[in-house]
Amino acid sequence: MDKMMWAGRFSKEIAADVNDFNSSISFDARMYRQDIKGSIAHATMLGEQGIIDKSESAVIIEGLKGILADIEAGKLDFDPNAEDIHMFIEAQLTERVGDAGKRLHTARSRNDQVAVDLKLYLKDEISIISDMVRQLIGTVTDLAEQHTETVMPGYTHLQRAQPITFAHHLMAYAQMFARDLSRLADCYKRTDVMPLGSCALAGTTYPLDRRRTAELLGFADITLNSLDGVSDRDYAIELCNDISMLMMHLSRFSEEIILWCSWEFKFIELDDAYSTGSSIMPQKKNPDITELIRGKTARVYGDLQTLLTMMKGLPLAYNKDMQEDKEAIFDAIDTVKMCIKTFIPMLATMTVNKENMRAAAAKGFINATDCADYLVKKGLPFRTAYKITGMLVAMCIEKNTTLEDLPIEEYKALSDEFDTDVYDAISLDRCVMTRNVEGGPAPEAVKAQIAELKARVGEIKL
Ligand code: ARG
Repeated sequence: MDKMMWAGRFSKEIAADVNDFNSSISFDARMYRQDIKGSIAHATMLGEQGIIDKSESAVIIEGLKGILADIEAGKLDFDPNAEDIHMFIEAQLTERVGDAGKRLHTARSRNDQVAVDLKLYLKDEISIISDMVRQLIGTVTDLAEQHTETVMPGYTHLQRAQPITFAHHLMAYAQMFARDLSRLADCYKRTDVMPLGSCALAGTTYPLDRRRTAELLGFADITLNSLDGVSDRDYAIELCNDISMLMMHLSRFSEEIILWCSWEFKFIELDDAYSTGSSIMPQKKNPDITELIRGKTARVYGDLQTLLTMMKGLPLAYNKDMQEDKEAIFDAIDTVKMCIKTFIPMLATMTVNKENMRAAAAKGFINATDCADYLVKKGLPFRTAYKITGMLVAMCIEKNTTLEDLPIEEYKALSDEFDTDVYDAISLDRCVMTRNVEGGPAPEAVKAQIAELKARVGEIKL
């Protein structure tokens, strides 16, 4: 750009390094489609309202379509010296169509323009991320359906606690991702409100038909305070928060996968295509993907922190600080998409080692609660039953045996209520089968859980 757009007021060109410092085109160019779409809608409405001539509106729209086609075809490069994508496209337009192009910015400011562009961009991205989360949920539920009878230990404090199934464990993540999906749908609603027409901050004297522009752009509603319209970035923060939570869930899942594929657990094995080797230790097979997801979660939290902190001291309405919103929210979006895209096939191709899960469940006295419950069913108070079972566990540890293998005489020595049916009551399968409460790990309960979740996810619409 040889002449700045505001040359009338200024007597000098901007210093080159200040221009670089000020410019956002290196990162906001990715909104070129939204910028052109917004301008086409604006020009259409200006023409319909008689604010500019219909013929000029048509020339502007043709010019904008040409710019779009040329960018898409790789025939037009973004000028790194342009201040931002909005200035670049407007300058291009004027270069191509002359005076008509100079009328496009009537009753508009970059302040409402950037807000509308960002909202359009984020709406598209929310749809894309939501579809990816749906796929992720599909992969998790498919896997869960195959493992409703696969017994594994459930943990608290990373100590074996009570028996569950692998399906139940997986479905806990499906529940988290379903909440993520509903949060995204919720965020979409608040993003779907058009700020165009707020202009710089105080609206305009031109007879705009804002609802018409909103209709042309596919927004459900329009903003109703021009100051708020240009100074609100809640939607970007909300989306970044939703993505942060989604990353937190992926990170917890990743952490478990890292544990599960260690020699200490060996509950699963990752496919060779989704793991890496070591440059020095030939035996190694590392779960790098999951570790990277865990690491990238930190970076997305950083993006959220950037957005929150950027906004906290800003007086109304637009301030240039807000230009910093883009790199943060774009980074969060790019990161989460990359993570989900890699995580899905990694999950779908991993091998589940049912035997090791079962063996781990057989050790560690995870049926001790069931043993206590057996005595409770025979009439003992829970605390008494708890104490007796604790003594039995201590005895087993001393004798290096399990509750299943401890002779009945030892049981009877501690309580007459014990009989040989205790072995049935504490068998792993029974411990799982009988936890049939709604939301519990029994196969029937988990099947119901899967069905309910699928139906609920199917009903979430943007
Ligand atoms: N590049 C700017 C941004 O991203 C566009 C808005 C500029 N508005 C202004 N008054 N300087 O925020």
